[in-house]
Amino acid sequence: MAKILVVDDESPILESIEMFMGEKGHKVYTASTAAEAYSIYNSYSPEVVILDIRLPDENGLDLLKRMHEANDSSKIIMITAFHDMETTIEAMKRGAYDYIHKPLDADEIDKAVKGALFLVDADRQTPSQPKSAKRPDSSVIIGKSRPMREIFKLIGLLCQNRTTALIQGETGTGKELIARVIHKNSLFCDEPMITLDCSAVVENLLESELFGHQKGAFTGADRDKPGKIELAGAGTLFLDEIGELSLNLQGKFLGFLERLEYMRVGGQSTLRSRCRVIAATNCDLQLMVQKNQFRKDLYYRLKVMTLQVPPLRERLSDIPDMVDHFLQKTNLDLGTSVLKVQEGIVSRLKGHPWAGNVRELENVIVAAVVRCRGKVILLDLIEEILATHQSLQDDEVSSNSLAYMEMKHIQQTLSEVDWNRSHAARLLKISLPTLRSKIKKYGISPK
Ligand SMILES: Nc1ncnc2c1ncn2[C@@H]1O[C@H](COP(=O)(O)OP(=O)(O)OP(=O)(O)O)[C@@H](O)[C@H]1O
Ligand SMILES: [Mg+2]
Repeated sequence: MAKILVVDDESPILESIEMFMGEKGHKVYTASTAAEAYSIYNSYSPEVVILDIRLPDENGLDLLKRMHEANDSSKIIMITAFHDMETTIEAMKRGAYDYIHKPLDADEIDKAVKGALFLVDADRQTPSQPKSAKRPDSSVIIGKSRPMREIFKLIGLLCQNRTTALIQGETGTGKELIARVIHKNSLFCDEPMITLDCSAVVENLLESELFGHQKGAFTGADRDKPGKIELAGAGTLFLDEIGELSLNLQGKFLGFLERLEYMRVGGQSTLRSRCRVIAATNCDLQLMVQKNQFRKDLYYRLKVMTLQVPPLRERLSDIPDMVDHFLQKTNLDLGTSVLKVQEGIVSRLKGHPWAGNVRELENVIVAAVVRCRGKVILLDLIEEILATHQSLQDDEVSSNSLAYMEMKHIQQTLSEVDWNRSHAARLLKISLPTLRSKIKKYGISPK
């Protein structure tokens, strides 16, 4: 049995909810003004309040705020005849548990009250924790699984020297994070770390991004510009998506790696660099070498120190720690205080395919925190979020839709050119960055 307070100035509504909830065995209090409601609220601390927005003496939204300030353990369900966006947003912003429109539907109320009571119970079993004001370190890699421990060892070795390193792994596995951690723990951590995403820049500008250019080197080069190599100085140059480098640039880059010397585009003098190079890719470079899409000599030069980051599905035991970590991080980012996930969620998460790896897990947790109306994330909510992830993908590609045809066309083109994205982008007449984002959006992957 729970205590439920119903606040509305229309007595038929009060009576019907009172009867309905009373039949379910709850103790029901009713009030037809805000003043009366507030006094009952403070005297009896009901678990659930069903609160109308338009009251004779005060706006329900203001009362909601006052009630929460007095005692934030109750769940407040707003009811209203207003359907406008602003009121709904405002109610949710002020911490309402749910928002139901009139005319009232008994099933809807029942469902909302049940959900609210469940959450009150879960909250009660979760002791409050003092908020730690400290941000979890954004350059910490969560994981204790065997493959991650191997990665940590290699990172440790890499921090002691300037060896070139290659990080390989599927999208969202944490390649960029690993690169940041290597840099942060190296002897030259005070020097810059500069990133160049080879897939985000059109091919003919990439060379100048990397090596810089001299004024007048090409149309539009109206002044000298240092390249990323130069900007990295004695720090780290992080070359992301190195599999996207054209064969021509691969040759030039290999020359640079071997001599640590280079020239700006259109430049006359040789420049020297001391930077450490970390390259990352989610392509299978070995396969690309076999298909003559990636230079063998560059591949061998890079692969000396390879960190092969496993997909999340191969380190499921890391999921509980990751969930805690992302909860903490999200709470600090959003100012929320969601403490944990309901029992059963972890094993549910372990069963998800995680095509987007750790990034996808992080997104699911953020979505759950945003929608969570208590201290505990419930399994139903996670199910809903996982289902929308799935159905979004299904919707976008449901057969016969334009999106589906586009996806099929891209998929086919990519397989025709053995996943050489630059080549595919040219055939599809879209830019490489656009192609890359479509690959991500549709979740296309080599078979
Ligand atoms: N082991 C981990 N612990 C904590 N956070 C992680 C871990 N792995 C990844 N993340 C987080 O997941 C997100 C994606 O990671 P990151 O950008 O490093 O992936 P990536 O491999 O570079 O992906 P892509 O190939 O798509 O560029 C980031 O927010 C990162 O901080
Ligand atoms: Mg990345």
